[in-house]
Amino acid sequence: MDEPSTAERDPDGAPARAPDGAPERDGVGAPEGDPAETRPGVIVTRGLTKRYRGGQLAVDGLDLTVPAGSVFGFLGPNGSGKTTTIRMLMGLIEPTAGTVRVLGRPMPRAARTVLPQVGALIEGPALYGFLSGRDNLLRYDAADPTADPRTRRARVAAALDRVGLAAAAAKKARAYSLGMKQRLGLAAALLQPRRLLVLDEPTNGLDPQGMREIRTLVRELAADGTTVFLSSHLLDEIEQVCTHAAVMAQGRLVVQGPVADLAAGARGLLVVTTPDAADAARVLKELGVADVTADGDRVTGEPPERDLAEVTAALVAEGVRVRGLTVERASLEDAFVALTGEGFDVAG
Ligand SMILES: Nc1ncnc2c1ncn2[C@@H]1O[C@H](COP(=O)(O)OP(=O)(O)O)[C@@H](O)[C@H]1O
Ligand SMILES: [Mg+2]
Repeated sequence: MDEPSTAERDPDGAPARAPDGAPERDGVGAPEGDPAETRPGVIVTRGLTKRYRGGQLAVDGLDLTVPAGSVFGFLGPNGSGKTTTIRMLMGLIEPTAGTVRVLGRPMPRAARTVLPQVGALIEGPALYGFLSGRDNLLRYDAADPTADPRTRRARVAAALDRVGLAAAAAKKARAYSLGMKQRLGLAAALLQPRRLLVLDEPTNGLDPQGMREIRTLVRELAADGTTVFLSSHLLDEIEQVCTHAAVMAQGRLVVQGPVADLAAGARGLLVVTTPDAADAARVLKELGVADVTADGDRVTGEPPERDLAEVTAALVAEGVRVRGLTVERASLEDAFVALTGEGFDVAG
């Protein structure tokens, strides 16, 4: 392979430049200030398909575009094809059909150029149980020809610290809990500055506190300019940390886009809080609000097209004492249910 791998590496994770200073030809390093949506993707798949030898169609015609600088949530129930997709992104398995480009280059063909710029945590990180956490990382880093041995110890210490394993660094990895192993795998992905992090269910095996720490870490990495692609079967996790998301169900892409847009696709809920629930329900129906339901002092319905101030005025004019009137924002879960007509645990 004759790709100019060293010239385009950028230790700050900033957009790479070709040696002449022009933006890299694949456009991943588009001029700063561009809205993420207009930049070409850091990951682009077209018609990506994987049928396993047993005949299982695990990924079916996937068209994915991950914008530079995004925290991209790859969301789907267990068995929906997330890990299979990630293994194709990283060149670990061959697609049955379709194409993958990572950092503008075809995978798996350009793996040697691309992979040093990508930190990855893939299901069940391979660890040497007889080595300490620290020695696992030293060994992992030593196997990376692009890693500087002079800074190895310091980088390993910093990565262990970043994932909260500094105090357990000398412990043998076989004594680690699942969550600690997961953190160690994440530390391995953080040994060098990366343009892209691919994390397969990074909070698997972590308790709520550990999950919060990973979310904070992901936000920090994104703030440093790293694009983060992370998979999860947990909707609220994606909603809390991701700017963009793709939803998978049974190997197929259901929808992708900015998280705010996806949630906005679902309609949300008009909620009126009042001691006069029966009257409020009647007035809302008269105003043409659909699906009006009264439950205690809470009356809900579909958000109306008209101005909420008008709705409030109409209620008050009819003698309804309004304590509160809001439109509750739809969640990603609402969007998922609206899109698939099913609950989230379809194939779980
Ligand atoms: N190595 C394999 N051989 C055959 N089938 C597989 C293999 N790995 C995964 N599958 C099947 O492919 C589908 C998608 O699996 P996977 O990509 O692991 O989903 P997820 O990561 O979303 O849970 C599942 O039906 C799973 O059983
Ligand atoms: Mg998986």
